[in-house]
This record gives sequence, structure tokens and C-alpha cells, in this order.
Amino acid sequence: MAAEALEYLAVRPDGIYVDATAGLGGHTGQIASRLTSGLVIANDRDAASLAMARQNTREWSERIRYHQGRFSELADAMAEAGVAKAHGLLADLGVSRYQLTSPERGFSFLSDGPLDMRMDRTTGMTAAELVNHTPERALADLIYQLGEERRARRIARAIVRARPIRSTLHLADVVERAAHRTSRIHPATQTFMALRLKVNEEPEELDRLLEAGPELLHPGGRMVVISFMSMDDRKVKERFRQLGRGGEAVILTKRPLTPSGEETAQNPASRSAKLRALEKI
Ligand SMILES: C[S@@+](CC[C@H](N)C(=O)[O-])C[C@H]1O[C@@H](n2cnc3c(N)ncnc32)[C@H](O)[C@@H]1O
Repeated sequence: MAAEALEYLAVRPDGIYVDATAGLGGHTGQIASRLTSGLVIANDRDAASLAMARQNTREWSERIRYHQGRFSELADAMAEAGVAKAHGLLADLGVSRYQLTSPERGFSFLSDGPLDMRMDRTTGMTAAELVNHTPERALADLIYQLGEERRARRIARAIVRARPIRSTLHLADVVERAAHRTSRIHPATQTFMALRLKVNEEPEELDRLLEAGPELLHPGGRMVVISFMSMDDRKVKERFRQLGRGGEAVILTKRPLTPSGEETAQNPASRSAKLRALEKI
């Protein structure tokens, strides 16, 4: 949904933009290519991704300031770049294909790797620490709540019995034995999702972004959020509505935009994407 994101950001050549989730720099590059005297702050909490973004956007590097940090540190990123407010803020939530498909990052059960799952590998608890040290009941609650997994109790019991869990495939195997396959979806999908969300505090991070994001914008500035989980889209919708009702913003997308059939055919992972945009008053 890059084209739609760019359309809603309404990039002006002299504007200041924040790409809160630079990833490998796809959106950052597209914003930067439209700038003359403007600037884009390319932020990501993942240092390896940011290094790749830097490489992929080197053509426009004089218009880009790279910053490693989480959503809650975006104001610092702006201060470092010497700007107070932005004309646009983009957040393309979740993990990137690079993160998902790199075995050493530990996000996927399709190949074996360490159970890490941290977007920022310099800090915080790994998924291995979480599965090996969380009490059974708390583990079940987190798999149930964040993974929306009905078989959470059974899965948590199996994990505790199989400790220490050594790798992604070890965990996937333990979960599969406990939960059994009932559809084409791998039975460990929701457990892995829950662990990833917990390790990276993704729900809390999104709350902070939605709370503080609009404050970072000039009047007339745009905020565009692309989410992949219904839980996230619901939060974006509610916060945007609240800002709309409070007279702080105009909602530009009455209904969320979803990818075209062509896009989902080319990139099946984009299937669940939803884009919402607002303009600050
Ligand atoms: C879907 S990818 C973005 C892809 C990017 N738009 C591109 O064009 O390549 C999401 C990125 O957001 C980053 N991310 C997720 N949560 C974050 C947070 N709370 N703070 C900073 N970065 C975050 C991830 O590390 C990941 O690189």
C-alpha cells in the first residue's frame, strides 16, 4: 500500500516527514525522492534494518536522517534532526519480511534459529527467556490474550514440561504436539505471535505512538498508519475517532483502505493490511 500511503501523506517538496518504521527503507526512499529542501527522519528500533535502509536509500541520503529508536523516542529523533514539528508521520506496523525470514532473528517457525524475536537486539527479554522462565499460568494468559489462542492452557502446560526450550523449531514442535493441526495454519502461529508482541511490547508501543504522534505534527500535518492485525486497527480507529470528535483532527479515511487484488496476489502477506489517515487541525 505504498502508493496509498504516499498519497495520504501528500508529500510536499519542502516538508518534514517522519517514517517511524523505516524497515528496509522502501517508504523512506519514496518520500525522500519527492523532497527538494525537505527532510525525512527514518526511524526503526532494529539496527540491522536501519543499516539496510541506509544502504537502500543512499541516493537521497542528504535528505534523510537515520535514527534507531522506538515509537516512544520519536520526539528525540526529531530533536536530533533539529526539527520541532513534522508535516507527516507514517507508521507501517509489525515486522518486516527481512525480520520474519532471517532464521537468526528467531521470529519464524519455518526454519530453526535462536528464540530471540527482539526487534532491538541490544535490550530487553528474548522469547527464550520468556518461554523458559514465565510461570505456566502467566504464559497461558499471554498466549490467550495476545495470540487470541483458545488452546493456550494446553500449550503453556506443554511448554513448561518441555523446558528448556532451545530454539524456534523446538518450540514449534512442542506447540504442534500439544495443539494439533486443525487447519492449514500452523498450530504455533498464534503462540509465536503472542511471544513476539510481548517481547517487543508492541501493544504498548502502538498506544504511545497513537497518543504522542499527533502532537509531533504541524496543523495540517498528516498521520498515516498501516496495520496488519485487527487488534491494532481497532486501536487506530478508536484513537482517530477520539481526535476527530475532539476537533483535533479530520479523519481522511472513513473506512480503512485495503490492498488491491493485484497487490495481495503479488504479496500475500499484505492481505490483512489496513490503512487509516488523518489530518491534524
Ligand atoms: C512492516 S516493517 C516496515 C517496512 C518499511 N515500511 C519498508 O518500506 O521497508 C515494520 C518495521 O517497524 C519496526 N518497528 C516495529 N515496532 C516499532 C517500534 N515500536 N519502534 C520503532 N520501530 C518499530 C520494525 O523493526 C520493522 O522494521
